[in-house]
Amino acid sequence: MKIVSLVGARPQFVKEALVGQAARESGAWDHVLVHSGQHYDPDMSDVFFKEFGMPRPQHHLGVGSGSHGAMTAAVLAAMEEVLLAERPQALMVYGDTNTTLAGALAAAKLCIPIIHIEAGIRQKPRDMPEEINRVLTDHLASRLLCCSSLGQRNLAAENIRQGVHVAGDIMLDVFLRLRPRFAPAAASAARGVVPGGYFVATLHRDFNVDRPEPLSAILTGLSRLSASTGMPVLLCLHPRTRQRMERFDLIRAADGLVLLPPVGYIELMSLVCASAAVLTDSGGLQKEAYYAGRRAVVLMPDTGWRELIECGFNLLCPPEADRVVAAGQAVLAPVAPPPAVYGCGETAAAIVTVAQELLSSCS
Ligand code: UD1
Repeated sequence: MKIVSLVGARPQFVKEALVGQAARESGAWDHVLVHSGQHYDPDMSDVFFKEFGMPRPQHHLGVGSGSHGAMTAAVLAAMEEVLLAERPQALMVYGDTNTTLAGALAAAKLCIPIIHIEAGIRQKPRDMPEEINRVLTDHLASRLLCCSSLGQRNLAAENIRQGVHVAGDIMLDVFLRLRPRFAPAAASAARGVVPGGYFVATLHRDFNVDRPEPLSAILTGLSRLSASTGMPVLLCLHPRTRQRMERFDLIRAADGLVLLPPVGYIELMSLVCASAAVLTDSGGLQKEAYYAGRRAVVLMPDTGWRELIECGFNLLCPPEADRVVAAGQAVLAPVAPPPAVYGCGETAAAIVTVAQELLSSCS
């Protein structure tokens, strides 16, 4: 029995690290890893493989960057060849990237069942690339692993009921497993900040960074937040964001911010654990802040991780400088984190069980 697991972007490497390990330990199937190459800079890709001791992918598709259509098409064509050569019993895909959708399409056309991890997330606007990728992947998948019962309800609202499991969030498994390696004091000292006395920020969504207005407003808001609280803001810059800041001549709007390159998982979590609060448009980081007991400002019009907004732990914030300052100040107030919203860190085992059950139905 064989499952091909497809990754391509930063958050998928982190999730695959644990799922792949659990699969190999179970010995239940031959786990073949494929990297699409969507993320290719060493600090967007290699660093994660090294940190997690992940095996080299058996196939690297080398697609690189491109328009949505070109990237999706390149992964689709290359994955069809891989699937025809490997002839697996299932394809495993993660989340909502172009890589995810392209792999799912290639498998669906070859009648290969799809296991979608992090299924059932829904977020407005409907035309956001990640939302298109998630909805279509969910409708192609035969096994859908949701992080919470909200995901299950979202799928039921679209008439997807078969093969749906609430498995919890694999990122919580990763967080708990790697927590002994976090070094909050050393990480903050290395970046010249005092534990409890700084913010961590990340920014990369197209709607925030691809036009000068929102990008400038958020950078200005972060600078003012730093000035008004006297607390440094560490902004970990995705290559896309750095390119746009240079293109729109916005480096000066970031005056007063501490600009960092993209950092690895262990360093980022170490910094978050010692931070006062987080500001981000990353789906993963808004949950990881919660796992670290830190509140987050979510720089998005909406989020799929709605449970953390509804209880008031995280705050949604539009790209307006004054609102960024107000929300950043507001999340400094302590609020008790809601308990066990996304399971208790046993998701990898649940995924292995669901996959085994799928494989036994194929034999
Ligand atoms: C992608 C996913 C998003 C996920 C994110 C994690 C899609 C549509 N989006 O967004 O869901 O949260 O990954 O980081 O799949 N670039 C580099 N080096 C790299 C990778 C990208 O310079 O290693 C640049 C590219 O030139 C491109 C830009 O970053 O212009 C965007 O990359 P892309 O993979 O399209 O999307 P992300 O913004 O990373």
